[in-house]
Amino acid sequence: MNTQRSAELFARAQQLIPGGVNSPVRAFRAVGGTPRFMARAQGAYLWDADGNQLLDYVGSWGPMILGHNPPQVLSAIQEALQEGLSYGAPTEREVRLAERILAAYPGCQRVRLVSSGTEATMSALRLARGYTGRELIVKFRGNYHGHADSLLVQAGSGLLTAGGGTAQSAPSSAGVPQAFAERTLVADYNDPEGLEALFAARGEEIAAVIFEPVVGNAGVLVPTPAFLEALHRLTQQYGALLIADEVMTGFRLAPGGAVELLGLKPDLVCWGKVIGGGLPVGAYGGRAEIMEMVAPSGPVYQAGTLSGNPVAMAAGLATLEALAQDPPYARLEAYGAALEQGLREIFTQAGVPVAINRVGSMITVFFRPGPVRTYAEAVASDTEAFKRFFHGLLERGVYWPPSQFEAAFISAAHGPKELERTLEAVRDVYLG
Ligand SMILES: Cc1ncc(COP(=O)(O)O)c(C=O)c1O
Repeated sequence: MNTQRSAELFARAQQLIPGGVNSPVRAFRAVGGTPRFMARAQGAYLWDADGNQLLDYVGSWGPMILGHNPPQVLSAIQEALQEGLSYGAPTEREVRLAERILAAYPGCQRVRLVSSGTEATMSALRLARGYTGRELIVKFRGNYHGHADSLLVQAGSGLLTAGGGTAQSAPSSAGVPQAFAERTLVADYNDPEGLEALFAARGEEIAAVIFEPVVGNAGVLVPTPAFLEALHRLTQQYGALLIADEVMTGFRLAPGGAVELLGLKPDLVCWGKVIGGGLPVGAYGGRAEIMEMVAPSGPVYQAGTLSGNPVAMAAGLATLEALAQDPPYARLEAYGAALEQGLREIFTQAGVPVAINRVGSMITVFFRPGPVRTYAEAVASDTEAFKRFFHGLLERGVYWPPSQFEAAFISAAHGPKELERTLEAVRDVYLG
């Protein structure tokens, strides 16, 4: 496979942009080699700058649930383009997108639209602090909620492979003041007893607990019922807000996201990715009584020049309308189940120990014996074995996320042909 053009672009990019990329995981640091520069996409496929066709399991890290370039989204964007790019004034599409989001999440009565997942979680935390008058937040080791200061404490995603602090409440990025990190308490995912102990010690000071309801950013981790029960019970008992970060899972795991799938009752929900259909949109929402604390209704300030951008709204709205008109969730589950089963058979035959975690269209192959339920179990994976898997697939035209600690995403454009092509590539790597 010729990758000369990607290599040239990467060399140029490294002289201009830190690490040659505008978001760390794209640099392939965890797997080595040269990242592919992409030129175009259609359906389940990407084409890189050298014209190589790649079967895509990254899906722009989650937004492209319909596959690339769905016609109804493209035409909605084209229509919006004719009407202007940005007004800095409210528009009907914002009302319609808000209606769609709130209809899918009956526990939420108000939603504020922003431009990224980071903005959504950062704003939800400010709101939780403003609402409760408390300062501490709790997050889980290996969960990632974007790059706001308070949240870069034992964060997951690219930070798992880039190194970072390991002590309790240590910043996982340089430049995060220790004083901020100290206001973030870190607990273990799927450890209800640990959470109980944390609340017993500091519960009266805790404004909010933020969590990934299905983790994607340590690889896929599935919450246990006991963990979910403890989250709800302790936040309620101590008057802290429970924030479900559905940036990755919202409108992906079910029409009402993980909240619907798992029967959760969070106080606030954060969205991103799918709700923008590939353009920059995030959101946070919850009960009116909490959300009305946000400016201009209330004293918690939050704003954005491009919030509710009409072109981005058109993309998000068309995506959510398409998901409602022809829900792909059963097909995504069927594809995911078949992929999981096929992978299990190949790895068993090849004698390679793996743990495969999957919820619907999010899947991770951990290179270690299972089960993998916690962050500690995830990071004990054999990352060298993952590199072989990743590069083996890439050489065969299958673009898997370039890190052991990420979810692969299936889209509605993935069908039997793509499934067979994927399994054929994996067979070829491991069974020859
Ligand atoms: C669960 C979760 N929350 C928040 C974010 C941050 O979103 P963004 O990258 O749009 O700022 C991400 C991004 O991957 C995420 O997966």
